[in-house]
This record gives sequence, structure tokens and C-alpha cells, in this order.
Amino acid sequence: MCGITGYIGSRDAYPIVIKGLQRLEYRGYDSAGVLLYDGSNAQVYKTKGKVADLQAVVPDLQQKGTICIGHTRWATHGVPNDVNSHPHVSNSGDLAIVHNGIIENYDTIKAELTQRGYTFKSDTDTEVLVNLIEEVQKVNQCKLGKAVQLALNEVIGAYAIAVFDQKKPDELVVAKLGSPLAIGIGENNSEFFVASDASPFIEYTKNAVYLDDEELAIIKVGRDIRIRKIHDDSQVSPEVQALQLNLSQIEKEGFDHFMLKEIYEQPKAIKDTYRGRLLPNEGIIRMAGVEEYIERFKSADRIIIIACGTSWHAGLVAEYLFEEIARIPVEVEYASEFRYRNPIITEKDVVIAISQSGETADSLAAIKMAKAQGAYVFGVCNVVGSSIARESHSGAYTHAGPEIGVASTKAFTTQITLLTLIALKLGKEKGNLANSDFHAHLQNMELIPSKVEKILKQDAAIKEIASEFLETPSCLYLGRGYNFPVALEGALKLKEISYIHAEGYPAAEMKHGPIALIEDGYPVIVIAINKGHYEKVVSNIQEIKSRKGKIIAVVTEGDVTVKEMADHVIEIPEVEEALSPLLTTIPLQLLSYHVAVARGCNVDQPRNLAKSVTVE
Ligand code: AGP
Repeated sequence: MCGITGYIGSRDAYPIVIKGLQRLEYRGYDSAGVLLYDGSNAQVYKTKGKVADLQAVVPDLQQKGTICIGHTRWATHGVPNDVNSHPHVSNSGDLAIVHNGIIENYDTIKAELTQRGYTFKSDTDTEVLVNLIEEVQKVNQCKLGKAVQLALNEVIGAYAIAVFDQKKPDELVVAKLGSPLAIGIGENNSEFFVASDASPFIEYTKNAVYLDDEELAIIKVGRDIRIRKIHDDSQVSPEVQALQLNLSQIEKEGFDHFMLKEIYEQPKAIKDTYRGRLLPNEGIIRMAGVEEYIERFKSADRIIIIACGTSWHAGLVAEYLFEEIARIPVEVEYASEFRYRNPIITEKDVVIAISQSGETADSLAAIKMAKAQGAYVFGVCNVVGSSIARESHSGAYTHAGPEIGVASTKAFTTQITLLTLIALKLGKEKGNLANSDFHAHLQNMELIPSKVEKILKQDAAIKEIASEFLETPSCLYLGRGYNFPVALEGALKLKEISYIHAEGYPAAEMKHGPIALIEDGYPVIVIAINKGHYEKVVSNIQEIKSRKGKIIAVVTEGDVTVKEMADHVIEIPEVEEALSPLLTTIPLQLLSYHVAVARGCNVDQPRNLAKSVTVE
């Protein structure tokens, strides 16, 4: 859960790396640091706090450097402080490293190195790793690349690292296992960028190589990248990708926060996600990743959906979609539970892994286990070249574009869009869906972006409603059927960015306990669209009303019944129940956003959270 970045070339390296770190702060922001080589000396600057705090400790640099590596940290070993910040330097002072990941056997290695006379300033696993590389280099009298390769064969864990050796200051060595690493390639190999994702270098080059797990690369100006397999040093030919990202996608584009920008991007993100796949005129859904394994899907005994957090909520929506439309049994699993439960997995299982970042450690480990037991794994990710995407047998990318805000918004709606297309495709393939119904769904899906636009126009009204909930200690979210997962997601949004406790429940569950919470003024957000068991939700609202609860209801345009009972209503356009989560979630995203902003919370980087949970 850290961000690493680096530069080697002829430009002034420090400003490039600092700006890169700012773009990576969503991955962790406990501390930050850089190593800068100015042609004769390597200097490390690092501090607890954010990149802005790092800039405050770096003096006016007299001599520009052409090699720089940087790190923004999310603490895993060792509390966030100056000493534990990266880069870490080896005992000789020659080697420096930045690292994203966890070395699980660092304590054994540390004991061994201590016996050999090494000393350690920090509590981190990373400082152990850089001294292991130093020891391997000394014992084998080898260059940095070979030393890194040999050393990494001794470690257990996850890493994306960049290593610099002052004895050979014209190269960088990077390596990857379990954490993301992208290499930006300048024209004619005149410069190189390394980073946890492409955002630090996209304004300089769109050509990138994503290392695969267990790969190492030696980077030197004027020469092609040399990629090796870590376990046997065999050569790997680089696969250069032309990235579609552009900088404006990354910047906030005038919104106060990335989260709000990303909420407003949803009409486009949903459209981009079904573009080229949803073909109503041809009456088909085209998805190569599904078609390639269509028999596995059609003959599946069940679909196991594996995810965490918001992605898990998208999986719950998919359970309703697949069971109703494709008539395939579905189990939705928290990845962290699934991977340690010793589950029964057979070759007749289809696993769908849902992950915005594609780097969530629990989800990645869970699908590796499922694959090892014969399951076919389909990945639904948002980040091209991410670990889960590459670990899956096949998959489909949500085309949401970078999601910088820690709270997932457009990831959720684009995941549901993709999962809906898959359910419709399978329902059609399995003959469970009449042609007319299939076509109706396709046309209804095409109307979703404009319906989302319409809801976004209520932003100011929703902000008004939010102002009434700034001091509430907790609240309840209720929904039924397809909107039960949306109630869970709405509650997660509120608690993770405004720090107000919130719980989501199936509306009917209220009588089994949560109703005890209802008292005068207690806020309850109810999704009460005119589909599914609407009348039962109305009676739930009556029960809340009779106990003087304060009701915010998400209703279908024109609803009068609930309007008379609720304290506030937010109207959404008419929509079929199966597609309703794509609309009902929008008001809840805006509500949580405005509550959090009014409470002065750091909406894009909430306390204790990181965007991508790449360690357990
Ligand atoms: C949701 O707002 C959070 N950011 C978090 O729950 C997130 O959904 C979860 O960590 C899973 O991340 P992933 O989709 O990248 O795997």
C-alpha cells in the first residue's frame, strides 16, 4: 500500500519524482522520501508526513540530479516516523531502495545479517532487504542486477522495488512480486520512469512496460530495458503498451475533490464500460473474455464471486443478476475469509474476482488458491496490467479511468455495468432470456448514463439534506432485493469518509434488531423505488415513522406515497429493478460526500485508509 517512483535520464530528476509522489499519495501517505544522485553524490531526504512535508525538508538543491527514486509510505512494519521512512540505505551507504510490499521472512534474514555484523536503524523489512542485497553482492562479487536477483530468491513476500547503487550510478534495478510496477519509456530509451502506476509519468511518455510477477529489470539510459525472471535469471522480452490514460484524466479538472469528479464521471464511465460490448443494433453483447470460456460459464455448477469492500458489494448485486437472469447459483465471498477457510472448489466452479485496483492482496491470494484447485478465474478490474488481471484466465476491464479518491464510486457502477452485461450474455446463451426481454435490457442499459446525469442535477438539493446529518452519531441504510447491496454500499461510503457510524441492512431485517436504534430524529436512509417489494418497504417506512425516525427516501420519480411519509425524498428516473443499483447508489454517494466535506474530513484520503490494500 505504498507508492514508489523514480527517474533516470537527462532531465532534472527531483521535480519529476516529487510530482510523481504527489500523484501516488492515494496509495499511502504516512511518510515520504527521495534519494537524489547529482552526478557525484547520492543524498537521501525523508520525513514522516506527506509529500508536502518532504518538500519542506529538502534544501534548495544547488546541483540538479539525473537519477532520483522516491517513496510515499503506508506503514506495515514500523510506525510512521522519519527513520522508518523510505528510501533505506545499506550499511555501506552504497545501496538505496524504495519498496512497496511486505517481506514476510524479514526477521529471519535480519537475524542472519546481524550475526554477520550488519546494524539496522529502522524497524522496517525494507532496510533488511537492502542489506541482504548488499551482503549478496559482497559474497558473490557481482553487479547490482545479479545481487538483486539472488537476494530476492531468498525472500518470501510481496514487493515492488527500485534499487540504486552508488558504485554504479548509471542504472536502476527494479523488481516485482505481488505489488504493481510500471516502467515508462522515453524516446529512444533516452530516459526511463518507474512507478506503482502510470500517473507519475503519463505526461512524459505513453509507452510503458508492466513487469509481471517475479520479474526484474535493469534500466540504463540509451539501452533497451533488460528484463529477467527472478527465479532463474532467464531473459524476458519487454511488452511495451501504449497507454490510453492522459493527464487530464488524473487531475481534478476543477472539482474540489477527486471523489466528486469521479462521481460526476459515472455517466461517461458507464458508457465507456459498455462501449463496444453492448451492441443493441446487432442485438448482441460482445465480450471476448467471456466468449473464450463460454462453455465453462454455461456448464458452471456455480459462480463464486471474490472481492473486498465496495467490490464485494458489486458482487452482491451480481448475485441477484446472475441468479435471476442467467439462472446460475452464485456465492459471494469476502476474499480474506475465502482464502483461509479451506473452501471446496472444483473444476466446475467459475470464480469472478472483482477489484478496482487489481492489487488487493486478499483477492489476489484467493484467486491463486482457486486456480490451483482447478477453478476458472475471470477478472473484473479497472487497472490495465494489474496483478489480478494478469492472474486471471481471462477477464474484462471496467473502463472507469483512474479512480484516485480512496472511496470507490465509479468503480462500483462500472463493475455493476460489466457484471450486468455478463449476466445478460449468459442468460441469452443459456436460453433463459427471451429475445424481446434481452433487447429491452440492452436498450434500458443504454439509457442509464442519461438517467445518472439527471440524478446528478439534484446535487445541490442533496447537499442541503446532508447539512441536517453532520452531528448524528450513526444512521441506518435500508434496501431490498437488488438494493440491499446498495444500502450496504451507501453505509460504507458514509462511514469511510465522514467517520459517522452507519450500517446497511435488508429492509425486512429491521424488525430483527436494528429497529431498537430508532428514536426521535434518528436518520434512516431507505431505498424505496417502485419495483420489487415496494409495498413492504413502505410498511418499513411506516414503522420508522411511528418511532419518530428521520427518513431520507430514494424514490422513483412521481412517487406520492413515500413522499407524504418521508422527511426528504430524492427522486430517480423510472428504471427496471435489475438496473436500479446503477441509479440508486448515486444519491447515496453524493450524500456521503457532502456530509464528509461539511464535517471537514479529508474526503479523498480518509484517515487510516489507503486506496489499494496490497498487504494483508
Ligand atoms: C471502498 O470505497 C474502499 N475504497 C474499499 O472498500 C475498496 O473497495 C476495497 O479495498 C477493495 O479494493 P479493490 O476493488 O481495489 O480490490
